[in-house]
Amino acid sequence: MTKQPGKQRVLVIGPTGMLGKPVAQQLKADGFNVRLLARDPNKARRLLGDGYEIIQGDVEDAAALRSALSGVDGVHISLKGGPSAADFDRMDHLATRNIALAASEQGVGRVTLLSAYAVSAEKADTPESWSKFKGEAALKASGVPYTIFRASWFMESLPLFVQGKSMSLIGKQVHPLHWIAAEDYARMVSKSYQTEAALNKELYIFGPQAYTMKAAMQTYCDIAAPDVKISPISTKMLSVMGTLTFNTEWKSMAVLMTHYENWGEDGSPDEADRLLGAPKVPLREWCARNRG
Ligand SMILES: NC(=O)c1ccc[n+]([C@@H]2O[C@H](COP(=O)([O-])OP(=O)(O)OC[C@H]3O[C@@H](n4cnc5c(N)ncnc54)[C@H](OP(=O)(O)O)[C@@H]3O)[C@@H](O)[C@H]2O)c1
Repeated sequence: MTKQPGKQRVLVIGPTGMLGKPVAQQLKADGFNVRLLARDPNKARRLLGDGYEIIQGDVEDAAALRSALSGVDGVHISLKGGPSAADFDRMDHLATRNIALAASEQGVGRVTLLSAYAVSAEKADTPESWSKFKGEAALKASGVPYTIFRASWFMESLPLFVQGKSMSLIGKQVHPLHWIAAEDYARMVSKSYQTEAALNKELYIFGPQAYTMKAAMQTYCDIAAPDVKISPISTKMLSVMGTLTFNTEWKSMAVLMTHYENWGEDGSPDEADRLLGAPKVPLREWCARNRG
């Protein structure tokens, strides 16, 4: 039997992140007792406000992790690795594995993990996708009940491609993608804590409509940032520029976008939509709410 939200304490790891924060907020709004593991508690307080229990610590500090896990019913992982291959391995794989093992040892009821679509042995063609694949596998092997959210591209990523008046369209991104609003995803994560049926599943989290990356960027520019123009750049050119300027972020981005040139969405969102309620926020509405 799943406990009522008010009786469940959920730890969010990565609560100051773009995608961890809305989950922490939604869990709190739904009545859960929410604990945050934050490297910088002041930052967490500034971003999230009052009403959270905050444990200061780094996820790689075993003692901090043990104390953050003590007495919780669930843990949500929203970490980000990179840009180096070693950093992807440290966060997406090893940190996930260590959290899952510690959670299993401490008898935590469930671990939920933000992953991505196109994470499989066949598609593990980049340090990030390989690390995410190993992290997912370690979570499943740990014995703790889990839910893995294999999300599509978040609408919140769109502004991250803007620099000044230019929005970089990197590579030939031909695949249709179901862009998802973080608020829809956060509602689905919170709902997963309210149903046993979401346990031990990989759920595909896809937004209500499909747009290619170029079409999504054009929609964003038209509605939210009319002064911004799309600037296409090939993955090869970005990689060369990254090498010449010693910019590891650009090199890593070129690798990431080559992965997404190769692989479109896989899996079906039907089970997630049925169990957790289908995402509702259309891209145009999200853009209108995020002008400027
Ligand atoms: N963008 C998309 O469309 C998309 C789609 C699917 C999946 N994802 C995945 O979503 C995940 C989260 O992305 P995001 O954009 O939310 O990342 P983010 O904004 O960089 O957030 C990462 C979070 O992890 C925390 N963190 C990092 N290292 C830590 C450590 N050693 N100990 C404790 N906390 C640590 C950060 O805390 P600090 O504040 O201390 O830095 C921050 O709260 C990524 O793995 C990404 O690949 C993204």
